[in-house]
Amino acid sequence: MSQPTSPLFGDQPLKIGAFAPNASGGISMTEAPRSLRVTWEHQKKIAQNLDRWGFDVTVPIARWKGFGGSTNFNGNAFETFTWAAGIAEATENIAVVATTHVATIDPVVAAKMAATVDHISGGRFGLNVVMGWNSAEMAMMQCGLLEHEERYAYGAEWMDFVDRLWASDAPFDVDGKFFRALGCESEPKPVHGRPIVINAGNSKTGLDYSAKYADINFFVSTDLEKMAAHSAALKKAAREEYGRDIQTMTAALVVCRDTEAEAKRVHDEILDKADWTSAENLMAIHGVDSNSWSEQMTKFKERFILAHGATSLVGTPEQIVDGLQQMAAHGMEGVLMGFLNYAEEIDYVGENVLPLMREAGLRK
Ligand SMILES: Cc1cc2nc3c(=O)[nH]c(=O)nc-3n(C[C@H](O)[C@H](O)[C@H](O)COP(=O)(O)O)c2cc1C
Repeated sequence: MSQPTSPLFGDQPLKIGAFAPNASGGISMTEAPRSLRVTWEHQKKIAQNLDRWGFDVTVPIARWKGFGGSTNFNGNAFETFTWAAGIAEATENIAVVATTHVATIDPVVAAKMAATVDHISGGRFGLNVVMGWNSAEMAMMQCGLLEHEERYAYGAEWMDFVDRLWASDAPFDVDGKFFRALGCESEPKPVHGRPIVINAGNSKTGLDYSAKYADINFFVSTDLEKMAAHSAALKKAAREEYGRDIQTMTAALVVCRDTEAEAKRVHDEILDKADWTSAENLMAIHGVDSNSWSEQMTKFKERFILAHGATSLVGTPEQIVDGLQQMAAHGMEGVLMGFLNYAEEIDYVGENVLPLMREAGLRK
């Protein structure tokens, strides 16, 4: 399990990356003006800006259908394997990830696509394995959506199958509950053995899946103590139950401006121009009845509007670094960032936040 050319296994104290640059809306459900475009020219620009500043990774969201409302949040999104192939060719150092709903792709096809992008990138590829939860988008597909525990059982067989295809030099048969296949083989192999595997399982079953298969787990919370507890428990489970190491990372909306007042103004504008319908539709699919306007529910909805349920870091470069430091101190080894204006704000972070991160010992 080593991928020497991936910055995700590099020595940066806190890894940084972008999340969901490939989908309209990114991670914020708002009509506030923004520069993000789902055009190839713009996607390349975002990736090249990330690469130039030495960000470690770019992680696309796998989304097949939007969430309605005035913005149809995430409704316009590039497919992530083909996106990753193009981004790999357009960049030099950054780790490039494809996010795959396991039920939508046969393991034989997925293993070969992953190996292909790994070769295009020179060993910088990572696979974010998701089980699916969005019943509306899975209703478009022949595979449909299994019940939660079954999804992870399916995902386990899927990953075992892909792992064998990446590793095995001799043809093999598979005789499982979900897969039956004969004479399986896959060439070429990935560049340096198994590509990095990522999983964002957060439920008990999801955590066990990450402990067993993933090199990196994404955990989303606004509560630093929960992050610390999550990280410690997952590392312990991976080590004790599967003899493995795992990194824990999180995601956040970053709104960084020269003054706190300006950052706060942008934060407030995202909420003032919120696409509440999109957020309510998304939450309904998650089984959350968002009709109540209690203070708690309003706060919860605001988290979806701002950051797709993740936390937000809002303020000056110093304040952002302070927030990142807190996350690092609570077990997070990396932070994926969403922005209102990815291309420009990545440059702003590169110029104004990265030097302070270096001073703080978060970056080399
Ligand atoms: C950073 C991050 C990225 C994710 N990307 C996707 C995605 O692209 N597509 C998707 O359907 N789910 C995505 N998810 C959802 C997770 O795969 C997972 O279903 C969710 O975190 C709930 O955990 P559970 O499956 O253990 O219940 C993502 C979650 C996180 C935190």
